[in-house]
Amino acid sequence: MKMKFYLMVSFFLIILLSLSACSLQQTKEDRSWLKVKERGKLIVATETGFAPFTFKTLVNSKDTIVGSDIEMVNEIAKDLGVSVEYKEMSFDNVLATVQSGQADIGISGISITKERQKSFLFSTGYYTAKTKLIVPKNKLNTYTNFDDFAGKDIASQKGSIQENIAKETFSKSNIVSLPQISEMIVELKQDKVDGVLLEEPIAKAYVEKNPTLAISDIDLPSKDSDSYGILLPKHSKSLRNKINKALEPMIKTGKIDQLIESAFKLSINQ
Ligand code: ARG
Repeated sequence: MKMKFYLMVSFFLIILLSLSACSLQQTKEDRSWLKVKERGKLIVATETGFAPFTFKTLVNSKDTIVGSDIEMVNEIAKDLGVSVEYKEMSFDNVLATVQSGQADIGISGISITKERQKSFLFSTGYYTAKTKLIVPKNKLNTYTNFDDFAGKDIASQKGSIQENIAKETFSKSNIVSLPQISEMIVELKQDKVDGVLLEEPIAKAYVEKNPTLAISDIDLPSKDSDSYGILLPKHSKSLRNKINKALEPMIKTGKIDQLIESAFKLSINQ
């Protein structure tokens, strides 16, 4: 009898403990929006070598972070009634900074992947990009399939999904991972690497500014995960919901595409 009583008590204790664990978790989730609201400021991690999405240009003779991703976040912040502080860093650090909670969100043309979803939350996807291969223009006809790159060097950005695409598709090539896209382009122009993997709008912007380069016709396998999303720490559900509410109408009305188009023009004319 006594045994039964103890069993019952421990059973209730377990239930009670798991219930309070749940509500603790809940509070943690809910604090993400409250924290931003109380601070009156959204802290955003970004990498700025990714025109037309994120880049720098002179605005009133001041070096300023611009691009369609930046305009998009500025609009969202306006909607939420808070200001924005951008923290600039390398692409792989954008992911690390958001994961450790040192920034509320990350914005940088970040692809929503199953792997990343294990450690992060994402907003609704706002743009779909295909990966392309850039080669020297005079080699366009030399390279017609993956095998032509056997023993050659293919560059991709460190921490990006293109790093994996490169490894999977160019299995006979050497994959070079570099932190900055501008470095990858310089290496390609100096024949230090033979091809560069970038998503289409970024590839187009670089080719436009570098007439000795061209986008190859070689088709790269597209992934189910090519959509860009705003990156958040795993528990920032309330902030994610707020962001989605502001973001979704911008996707539906075609506002995001307009922002990309004008940012593209700005980036190639600067
Ligand atoms: N979309 C790719 C990814 O998420 C590349 C993003 C690179 N972004 C940047 N700002 N450099 O992996």
